[in-house]
Amino acid sequence: MFTANQNFSKLPESYLFSEVGRRIKEYKKTHPGDDVIRMDIGDVSLPLPACVVKAMKHAAEEMGKSASFHGYGPEQGYLFLRELIVENDYKNRGISSIDADDVFISDGAKSDLANLGDLFGVNIRPAVVTPAYPVYIDSNVLSGRGGTMSDGRWSGITYLPANSASDFTPALPAPGTRADVIYLCYPNNPTGAVLTKEQLTEWVGYAKQNGSLIIYDSAYEAYISSPDIPRSIYEIEEAEEVAIEVRSFSKTAGFTGVRCGYTVVPKSLKLTFVDGTLANLNKMWLRRQTTKFNGVGYIVQKAAASLYSEEGRKAIAESVGYYMRNAKKLRSTLLETGAEVFGGTDAPYVWFRPLERGDSWTLFDHLLEQHRISSTPGVGFGREGEGWLRLTGFNTRELTDEACSRLINND
Ligand code: MLT
Repeated sequence: MFTANQNFSKLPESYLFSEVGRRIKEYKKTHPGDDVIRMDIGDVSLPLPACVVKAMKHAAEEMGKSASFHGYGPEQGYLFLRELIVENDYKNRGISSIDADDVFISDGAKSDLANLGDLFGVNIRPAVVTPAYPVYIDSNVLSGRGGTMSDGRWSGITYLPANSASDFTPALPAPGTRADVIYLCYPNNPTGAVLTKEQLTEWVGYAKQNGSLIIYDSAYEAYISSPDIPRSIYEIEEAEEVAIEVRSFSKTAGFTGVRCGYTVVPKSLKLTFVDGTLANLNKMWLRRQTTKFNGVGYIVQKAAASLYSEEGRKAIAESVGYYMRNAKKLRSTLLETGAEVFGGTDAPYVWFRPLERGDSWTLFDHLLEQHRISSTPGVGFGREGEGWLRLTGFNTRELTDEACSRLINND
């Protein structure tokens, strides 16, 4: 007899961004003449760089000829891309602890962040910095680690709250608190907070001392411009013994619709099972991927590889600069309106609490009705986000300027 995974019934009916999308669609139905500016989900607006299009065309041509056709590829990803990643994202930045066998090409950070849960027992205790990208908690709830929900808290999850008083930087788990797998996201989605090298070193030290694993979501690392802010957790000594890093080409090269990212699961991870034996997570992840995933398409991986050319690097720098200019403009505009503002300096997200306070969904409605701007309600990222909103710098320059003018002129 069929029984459903009961954990589905524990979650809200829709995923945060699906719910936001649904409400915007509803609003547009009742206000057909309104030109709503989308600043909710972090979807990019610039087209693919020319080098990517060229690489895709070339790879498609190859696929059309029997001599250069590619069928199933390696589940871990083609070596040509994994080697480029190691060389450019790690070795050239002074990180020698990562090699090509540690890198797994994926169809984006979101799926890996959710799927990594396959590596852990149902009884581990995830620890999540909140506000948080909802995938960390939702995926653990679906895997049966949520326990029960009360007052915005899952009993099976350790919350590491961050708030405006501490610049949205959480404290380490208090002594005696269980944090078996710690989700860290820096630059942070949604608050835009970053960690200094010293702060990240403390987290790595904590993980080493307590036998915890860190899942480091660095999907927005390209947006860092401040000095002394690490772009990879592996810049911290011995982090390869305690951390998995997840990255994406979505927000740097317009791959939200192409789908490609990668996850680093170092062979040098030194985590033990409860019986004291060493857990070879690299081998386990390979087993998981070969069982449940057939790899990312050849054309897409060739497209990603083109980003490591001089032209590709230039295109990434340009798009990051374009979106950061938007984020900075949003930040200064919101400050001008008297809002309390975070982010928008080393991250494409701007996190704010308007002068006129309210709960997040009321503020969401107000921004939509008053200014025809869609946002993401902070409470969707957890209880600590209540009363806050998030805007993205990923829209076009023109529409970002128009949104800023609406905010300033109360239009
Ligand atoms: C966001 O808006 O938080 C991101 O676009 C979501 C994602 O990358 O999945």
